Amino acid sequence: MKKQIVTILMTSALALGITACGAGTAEDQTSGEQTSSDQTQETSDDQADAGEDETDTGAATGSSNILIAYFSVPEDVDTEGIDADAGASIVVDDGQVKGNLEYTAGVIQQTTGGDLLRIETVDQYPLDHETLVDQAADEQDQEARPGLASQIENVDQYDTILLGYPNWWGDMPMPLYTFLEENDFAGKTIIPFTVHGGSGFSDTVDTIAQLQPDAQVSSDGLSISRNDVADAADEITSWAEGLGL
Ligand SMILES: Cc1cc2nc3c(=O)[nH]c(=O)nc-3n(C[C@H](O)[C@H](O)[C@H](O)COP(=O)(O)O)c2cc1C
Repeated sequence: MKKQIVTILMTSALALGITACGAGTAEDQTSGEQTSSDQTQETSDDQADAGEDETDTGAATGSSNILIAYFSVPEDVDTEGIDADAGASIVVDDGQVKGNLEYTAGVIQQTTGGDLLRIETVDQYPLDHETLVDQAADEQDQEARPGLASQIENVDQYDTILLGYPNWWGDMPMPLYTFLEENDFAGKTIIPFTVHGGSGFSDTVDTIAQLQPDAQVSSDGLSISRNDVADAADEITSWAEGLGL
């Protein structure tokens, strides 16, 4: 049933020239590019001056009170000839292939500072597009809770959680459910951000509020079309500055 409903959303998304992402962890996504850990470490290096840190497993270890947690599965596409303005399902940022949420999270961190946590699953998602979208739909139908390979080391240190995820079948990817059920953000502020194929947040902000009833969930999250994200650095920065963190 859910699959039928969200098919309408996906059809709309695809009509806008959207192709759902292939996935897996970045170790297998980059086709000779950098591994996830390489990418993570490079991001961390870029921000070393700001005093943030991140381990190779993606666990945030800095001393900031801001956590930027995101889930992203860069599509396995041929990046030859793709530049930052291509509007593709990935962003090529200074020659580095990034998922849309990965890119957005990095721009946010450059503005707000904070610790960066990539939400990764124990089992990799398939790279093949059709296999991925079918698996994602099946996971929703089964209300699956995929195991996570990345954890928050010290949740108590954070006051603000910036939470980024793609719209998958009109909902959050199921690993976000795992993440929100494994962690208690009571008393904290959760600020969502998404990059989508036309559906925006769908009902995900309300869902986050239901999963974290003792957190304050912002209704002023950032929603960007994947068609615009490669050109959206200024918009992302402006939004992040407006948070007053
Ligand atoms: C399994 C799957 C399902 C998707 N379903 C939707 C959807 O229902 N609505 C939508 O607007 N976009 C949908 N998309 C598109 C993604 O939201 C979009 O490509 C997003 O930017 C991917 O972010 P990422 O590159 O960081 O993973 C879907 C993508 C995938 C892979």
